[in-house]
Amino acid sequence: MFDKFSRRHFAKLAGFSALGMAATPAKSEDGDAKPVSDRHASSSFPSGFVWGTATSAYQIEGAVDEDGRGRSIWDTFAHTPGKIGDHSNADRANDHYHRYKEDVRLIKELGAKAYRFSIAWPRVFPEGTGAANPKGLDFYDRLLDELLANGIEPFATLYHWDLPQPLQDRVGGWQSSDTSRAFADYAGYVAERISDRVKNIFTVNEAGRFVNFGYGWGIDAPGLKLPPAELNQVRHHVALGHGLAVQAIRAHGRPGTKVGPAENIAACLPAIDTPANVRAAEIATRELNSGFLGVIHEGKYTDGFLEYAGAAAPKFTAGELKIISSPIDFVGLNIYAPQYYVVASDRAPGFKVLPFPASFPHMSVDWLRIGPETIYWVPRLAAKVWNLDTIYISENGTSAADALAADGSVYDLDRIMYLRNYLAQLQRATSEGVPVRGYFLWSLMDNFEWIYGFEKRFGLYRVDFDTQVRTPKLSASFYRNVIARNAAGA
Ligand code: NOJ
Repeated sequence: MFDKFSRRHFAKLAGFSALGMAATPAKSEDGDAKPVSDRHASSSFPSGFVWGTATSAYQIEGAVDEDGRGRSIWDTFAHTPGKIGDHSNADRANDHYHRYKEDVRLIKELGAKAYRFSIAWPRVFPEGTGAANPKGLDFYDRLLDELLANGIEPFATLYHWDLPQPLQDRVGGWQSSDTSRAFADYAGYVAERISDRVKNIFTVNEAGRFVNFGYGWGIDAPGLKLPPAELNQVRHHVALGHGLAVQAIRAHGRPGTKVGPAENIAACLPAIDTPANVRAAEIATRELNSGFLGVIHEGKYTDGFLEYAGAAAPKFTAGELKIISSPIDFVGLNIYAPQYYVVASDRAPGFKVLPFPASFPHMSVDWLRIGPETIYWVPRLAAKVWNLDTIYISENGTSAADALAADGSVYDLDRIMYLRNYLAQLQRATSEGVPVRGYFLWSLMDNFEWIYGFEKRFGLYRVDFDTQVRTPKLSASFYRNVIARNAAGA
């Protein structure tokens, strides 16, 4: 069919000629089309940059009743009518528990060198505390062996929101510091058994989200709507759990095991790049993240945070602040969208947040606003504010409509557009010396997207949840290219 058209016809159809554009590849100044390798030379990432993909246990594993797994708050929540958009749950999800070998192959086919997955606490300690399930880590042992046999470095996350239900029932989950201590026991137990093979451990994933959504607004598990003082106390207990887990991993893991959080940092950016606005964005980064990343790095809440919280400020001891700020090895930043565009202000604390216009563009979920420069500014500002030397982008990616074309392919050009622009900005950061050491694309494959169920797809591989067939999307080829060249702009 295509052959029937001349080049001129095609250019006309595509509207190129009307716009005066050439339908031929760009030429360099000396008239030759630039060879591919040259075109990408200036967009390279540092050598040794870690390229990976990410998933989490509840979103992909399924097998919720196998090998002694206990219930988590997400089992309960997803089975509560009205909580999940498409009325689904993750009882089966991607059936990854049984298909992990195939899924490791998918990672390998991307050429990715690292994989971030999470361990389900209720598999290991079905009651949250007490006796460990003897079979609790068997699946992860198999997964780790498979990853390592395929030359893929595992990065494990200990808490990706699947709190054992008995802890919620007994002590109110993170409302109690008993949960912080239980988390540390679990962390120490896991570190002792996997740190021979896992060198990097993330403690808590996205405290900022699950505290607010789960305990404040009631739209994530456990579905509570606590008043501000209790919510701040929950956040403090999560930070304490992180700190205690760091100490437990140091005590029980192999020497040299690296540890840090993976946080959906409140993403603050200068609305326009002027020195005063950049300074304002630094102040905003520090103040708006004081409740988790700030207290972890500084060992105290900022005066601004405490003043703003007023009577609702968390109650804490100096000893707890010391534990929370136990030294860490890296920071994971989950970066999807710009959250606060700021400008300088004469009024304390020195920044003003601008409102988003209604027409600001977003991807196929409305919260996922498009702001590629977010992945440049946020690590840069975080590194400056807390003097960081190792940052991982622990998540970045987007959902897309991902319709199956007649030929069975998924031409997810919108996801590629998103990734291309974000990766170019990430490369801008690394080329300026911002210490980002690796990038984990969310997600390896479509999965259970929490309150949206299976309706929102974030994967590089499309999953048919009836047949469990995985199909690479066009973005999988895009990402393979980026990894192979170690360069943005592919
Ligand atoms: C962050 C969460 O960590 C992950 O579980 C979720 O699927 C992605 N964002 C996309 O919303």
